[in-house]
Amino acid sequence: MDRTPIETERLILRPPVVADAEAIHRHWATDPLVTRYLVWKPHRTVEDTRAFLAFVAESWESGAEFTWLLCLKSEPIGSISLRKHGDKAGIGYALARARWGQGYMVEAARPIVALALADPAIRQVGAFCDLENSASARVLEKLGMTRQEILRRWLVHPTISDEPRDCYFYSLERPAN
Ligand SMILES: CC(C)(COP(=O)(O)OP(=O)(O)OC[C@H]1O[C@@H](n2cnc3c(N)ncnc32)[C@H](O)[C@@H]1OP(=O)(O)O)[C@@H](O)C(=O)NCCC(=O)NCCS
Repeated sequence: MDRTPIETERLILRPPVVADAEAIHRHWATDPLVTRYLVWKPHRTVEDTRAFLAFVAESWESGAEFTWLLCLKSEPIGSISLRKHGDKAGIGYALARARWGQGYMVEAARPIVALALADPAIRQVGAFCDLENSASARVLEKLGMTRQEILRRWLVHPTISDEPRDCYFYSLERPAN
């Protein structure tokens, strides 16, 4: 995957570096409202955030997952990840609470979805979303995705509890030629 930063109207999307740990830690990784519907718990120390960045770097190297930071000017305000598996791709994202409701995630996710579908091997981009996560469901709809099904007891969101929770699966198919 190309690591060249992606520019949108207001943001620059770029792969994170170790030096981003403090900003990520300060702006969103410790916030239980941000992690509420994510598969990880709030980070406790900046070491947790550094370990996350090491995982992100390894995933870029292996091609398992690609993560970009959403940067407003030079300030990291969130992240978005893309995973490819066979002919499908999946996205996941998080944004600092202070930046919610200003259209940033839709703006960031559009070029990432386009990037996924630019790969001729990919025919579908999708995402899982907790039934109660209305903001994320709206983001996925604004990306042109369609709600496909409810997956019962599908994902653990450990900030809430260790019990698997019901999720929606949203997806967008490559347009037929
Ligand atoms: C989900 C999240 C990324 C949304 O980012 P965002 O930049 O605020 O989203 P946008 O501003 O691009 O769009 C949000 C849309 O959802 C709507 N929305 C926001 N909060 C909402 C809520 N609680 N209920 C219903 N709709 C909501 C907004 O009105 C907007 O739709 P509109 O343009 O039609 O008005 C952000 O809330 C977040 O980081 N949440 C925590 C992490 C998370 O849940 N990630 C997704 C896991 S699946």
